[in-house]
Amino acid sequence: MHDPIADEVRRGLTAPAKSLPPHLFYDEEGSRLYEQITELEEYYPTRTERAILARHAPTMVALAASDSQEPLSVVELGAGSADKTRLILSALVATQQRAVYLPVDVSPSALEAARARIEAEIPGIEVRPFVGRHEAASEAISRLGPRRLVLFIGSSIGNFEDDAAVSLLRAVRRGLVPGDALLLGTDMKKSPARLLPAYDDARGVTAEFNKNILARINRELGGRFELERFKHVALWNAAASRVEMHLESRVDHSVRIDALGLDVSFRRGERIHTESSIKYETPRVDALLRRAGFEREQSFSDDARAFSVHLARAQAL
Ligand code: AVI
Repeated sequence: MHDPIADEVRRGLTAPAKSLPPHLFYDEEGSRLYEQITELEEYYPTRTERAILARHAPTMVALAASDSQEPLSVVELGAGSADKTRLILSALVATQQRAVYLPVDVSPSALEAARARIEAEIPGIEVRPFVGRHEAASEAISRLGPRRLVLFIGSSIGNFEDDAAVSLLRAVRRGLVPGDALLLGTDMKKSPARLLPAYDDARGVTAEFNKNILARINRELGGRFELERFKHVALWNAAASRVEMHLESRVDHSVRIDALGLDVSFRRGERIHTESSIKYETPRVDALLRRAGFEREQSFSDDARAFSVHLARAQAL
């Protein structure tokens, strides 16, 4: 059977500048490691965003509903552990008793976990999971009604280049009507001294998460990567305002990938670019939102302005 990741791996590792798409991090092992990252001392984004939501969820929900009496439904792109989502859903059932929650994710197991957790913890929420990529969800979103609030939190948008982020948000916008709301979480630009440890922690969890992409190729495509031959590299790319993660070959060598019938050669010091994590300033957020058919209405931040959650409104197209 043809493995769906085969083409992406071949394309990425045979390009002149090698890269692998970051969504390949998230097999079961990678998702487990990512959950550990979110609890690291150095990785501030998750707990900062959680504190913002804990403080402002009632206001966010009230703004999203604006002055309409009609019930809101909630859509979430990337369900994850649904931990922070609970804060929004609890604020919602406090005002309208019942609500539909449509989590969108490629992982059926993540969706099942989210459903079990939410239904057990928040009576009044009906969970309708959607298995698929974010871009495929427009129709399911449009069938919800009459008013919708879309959550795209966790700064996951930062893992997309601007054009890709705009096309993803546009696909979401197609499922909405003017007046519907979007809550977008973005990690903000700050000093590299604060940013880099978040992507290169002392315990080495992020290094293991990064190398898991090679371990996954070994498991799923019969790759022969020796993980010790690669070094985890996190760097600040000032021109693009992003942290980048790379895997750098420590030696000249070549690696066989059986299922691809491919030998990939690496020079000492050569890198595979595995992830970009954009750190935003508000004008860049505004430009993305506008291009996708939204207008930012209000932003909520922590005191240090490390992270922001933006409430935006779908505009007429
Ligand atoms: C999922 N995403 C928002 C994380 C980030 O910070 O860009 C992924 C991550 N990569 C390394 N650490 C966390």
